[in-house]
Order: sequence, then structure tokens, then C-alpha cells
Amino acid sequence: MLLLSAIVAVTAFEGLTYADTCSFVEDLTSIEVARPLQLAYVTEQNEYWSESCTLLKPSCIIFPSSAQEVAAVVKILRDTDEDFAVKSGGHNPNLYCGWTFVGGRIGNTGIGGLILGGGLSYMSTQYGWSASSVIEHEVVLSNGTIVAASADENPDLFTALKGGGNNFGIGDVYGGNLLFLRSEETDEKLLKAVRDFTEYNEDDKAAVIVTAERINLNLLDSWILFLFYDGTEVPEGIFKNFTDVGPVLNTLRVRSYSSMMKLSNWVVVEASTVHMATETIPLPSAENGTEVFNSIHVHWRAMSRTTLAVPGIVASTAYQPFPRRIAEAARARGDDLIAADPDVDRLIIEMNYSFLPGPFEEMADTMEETYTGVRERVLAWQEDGTLPSHVYLPLSINYGFYRQDYFARLKPESAALARDVSARYDPEGLFRDRTGGWKP
Ligand SMILES: *[C@@H]1O[C@H](CO)[C@@H](O)[C@H](O)[C@H]1NC(C)=O
Ligand SMILES: *[C@@H]1O[C@H](CO)[C@@H](O)[C@H](O)[C@H]1NC(C)=O
Ligand SMILES: *[C@@H]1O[C@H](CO)[C@@H](O)[C@H](O)[C@H]1NC(C)=O
Ligand SMILES: *[C@@H]1O[C@H](CO)[C@@H](O)[C@H](O)[C@H]1NC(C)=O
Repeated sequence: MLLLSAIVAVTAFEGLTYADTCSFVEDLTSIEVARPLQLAYVTEQNEYWSESCTLLKPSCIIFPSSAQEVAAVVKILRDTDEDFAVKSGGHNPNLYCGWTFVGGRIGNTGIGGLILGGGLSYMSTQYGWSASSVIEHEVVLSNGTIVAASADENPDLFTALKGGGNNFGIGDVYGGNLLFLRSEETDEKLLKAVRDFTEYNEDDKAAVIVTAERINLNLLDSWILFLFYDGTEVPEGIFKNFTDVGPVLNTLRVRSYSSMMKLSNWVVVEASTVHMATETIPLPSAENGTEVFNSIHVHWRAMSRTTLAVPGIVASTAYQPFPRRIAEAARARGDDLIAADPDVDRLIIEMNYSFLPGPFEEMADTMEETYTGVRERVLAWQEDGTLPSHVYLPLSINYGFYRQDYFARLKPESAALARDVSARYDPEGLFRDRTGGWKP
């Protein structure tokens, strides 16, 4: 009933130009609208994990609760010239702040697509990108039409939407953290272990994320590893190269998958601004691994060192294996926009600066210098033969910084598909021009 009245109201007034979407939705539909100072608004604003998003202060927050209500809001927005942002359940501050990632923008099919955003999960070697497993999406187009996207219906849109997403519900797993105090020796050993794991591990159920973090004035300078095995019987020695390095804390045990997911929550510091960026590199050979990783990590340490006096700073970096198996598993489940080939192993590097609100631009500059330094090194190594050249190195969809050019790093045919889907499904550019973010 409620739903029906919402649609009826909107349809009846279609064509009228309302300058103020908030009032329109509030007065003429039953869709929930929250204004500043109202509880739902304050709660929603506080839920952003990056304070920079909270600073956006929208004139209202609209909570559609079905595809029909989303479609109604989209139709209303079309008749105004207001900018808007779509908040989804993802974790990229660029997303929340209206810098919507490809899932939403590719295609610029918007809201429906925004449920995507996942990318790498602990189970990517088994199942590919999380979105590789999605059978069908319900998508709200910019003209308010609701369509299905699947292998059979609107297949091009379906492919374009496959940039990420994350929804696996499963039983008990084995996993936890290892904590190490940082030293040059630990740096070298852990980086070697993650390199070896990327190349040599053959068990698709095993995954690792190796992170380093430092906080204000070097009070903490450590490595935290996330180890995961999709099962309760863990093959002997699979994580030995990591545990042998001598952690000061080891929480590995059989646990529920949801408790595994909660492990990383502590990394998020409330009320902070987060800048996050990424680079993808070809996995260096065993011969050149130490030189490559050492240089990248020394660069990260030098850059993060300059931030240690910034109030509330947490500087972190993560090294995530992107073995060829992930590309194979994704490919086996159909085309996607990333279109990674399984010819080489790669490694995804993620870089974060989290800090108390204030030096947004300065920290963005530092972030740019941090990931650019990685990129420049990689290009030079490809030039002199230290790293393999002619390797496709797409940026990870969910860690990208707003200054990075996601589409320019895709294969030309993928970028063309995104442009084409955008032109056909959002011909007036509602999502392309009126929200921030990467444009295909
Ligand atoms: C552990 O390290 C050794 C020596 O570098 C290597 O031969 C082995 O394959 C590694 N194991 C894994 C699972 O990475
Ligand atoms: C970077 O920040 C995001 C958001 O808080 C978080 O999900 C991710 O785990 C962080 N990565 C590192 C390496 O700290
Ligand atoms: C290691 O790097 C050197 C250049 O620094 C290069 O000549 C050599 O082929 C590389 N080795 C491997 C196995 O990639
Ligand atoms: C909405 O857009 C789609 C894709 O451009 C188009 O196929 C459809 O006919 C449009 N619907 C309406 C009602 O204009």
C-alpha cells in the first residue's frame, strides 16, 4: 500500500519541475526522508567511516526501501538539477562521498549497481571476483525503469556491473591475525613470505593479507597479518612461512566466517578522514623479489614517516596476493569489466592514511606521492627487466583514490564497453554528470 502510494504520487506529478527533491519526496511520497538534526540523519551521518563524507552535509537523506522507491526518487531527481550522492554498503570513502566506483557509474546505471564494489575476497582464488557469482541484478536505470541484468537479459550491462561485490555466507573457517613488531629483518621476511605465497601456494582455500601500520609519533610500528582458510582442517605448513617469522600475537583458530570479517573492523578509527589508494604490480621473481619489495616498502616508510605528526594519523599499507588463479576463477564465471588475464601473478598494494579531520588536501597530496612513487618504480623496473613488461595492471576497483584514473587503467575494450553501456542506459547522463566519481 505504502509503496503504491509513493509511485502514484510521483507519476501524477511527473513533468512538474520541483527545485527541491527533499520537499517533493517528503510531501508527496511515503518514502522516508531525514533532515539535519533528525535522528535518522544524524545516525546515518555518523555511520560513515570516513569523516570527510560526514562533512558533505546533504540537505536531506532519502531512504528508499525497494527498487520501486529507488526508481521513484530517480524520476524526481531527473526533474531537478541537484547533485546527489548514493550511499551503499561498500567501504570506499570515494564511494560514500559520491565518488562512486564503477559498479555504480559504469554503466552509470546507478543505485542498483552500487551494491557492488567488492573485488578481492578471501575466497577469490576459489570463486573469482565476488560479483562473478551474482546470477542476476535488479537495476534502476536513470529514467527510472527497473530492469534485470543477467547472462540472458541485458548481458552487456551484466558484464559492466561485474566489477566487484561481496556476499558469501558460509560456515566455519580457520583464520585470525598474526601481529609482529616491525624491524628491517621482519620487513624482509614477511615480504618474501607473501611473494612466495602468491607464486607457490596451490590451495585455493588459503588466503593472506599482509598489512603494515604505524600511528602517531611511532607509538606503534607493526605488521598485522590476516590469514584465512576456507575450512576447518588446515593443511600442515600452509602458513608456516608467516608463523615462522615470530609473531608477538597469534589468534589463528577455527571461527565463524562472520567473526573473521569482524577482525578487520578495529582498523577503522571513528570520526577520522580516510584516504585510500591502490597500485597493482607484477609479482617479482624470486630472484628480484627482495630488491623490489624492499624498495617499495622503504618508499612507503619514507612517505608515511612524513605524516607521523598529523593528529590521529594511522598510516597503513597492505600487500594482497593476486595470483593468476583469481583471474582464472573469475574468467570461468563469465566476462567482467576487469578482464584480467591469467598469464601472470600480480600483487595489489593498498595504502591508507586515516587522520582527524583537517588537512584533507595536504594528505591527498601525500597520498598521491605515495602511490605515484610505487607506480614510477614499477615502470622503471619494467623498463630495465627487473619486472616483466607488457603486463596488464588494472587498479583494484574498491581501493582506488579519487585522483587515480580507474578507467584509464582498464583494457581499452573494457573502458569502451563501460562508455557504451553508460551512453545506452543513461543517455541523459543523470548518473554520469550529477554525482562525483570516475567516469568511463
Ligand atoms: C615457503 O617458503 C619456501 C622457501 O622460500 C618456499 O619454497 C615455499 O614454497 C613457501 N611456501 C608457501 C606456501 O608459500
Ligand atoms: C584501509 O581502510 C579501509 C577503510 O577503513 C579498511 O577497510 C582497510 O582494511 C584499510 N586497510 C589497511 C591496510 O589498513
Ligand atoms: C631480475 O632483474 C634483472 C635486472 O635487474 C633482470 O635482468 C633479470 O632477468 C631478472 N630476473 C628475473 C628472473 O626476472
Ligand atoms: C529507459 O531507458 C532504457 C535504456 O536506455 C530504454 O530501453 C527504455 O525504453 C527507457 N524507458 C522509458 C520509459 O523511457
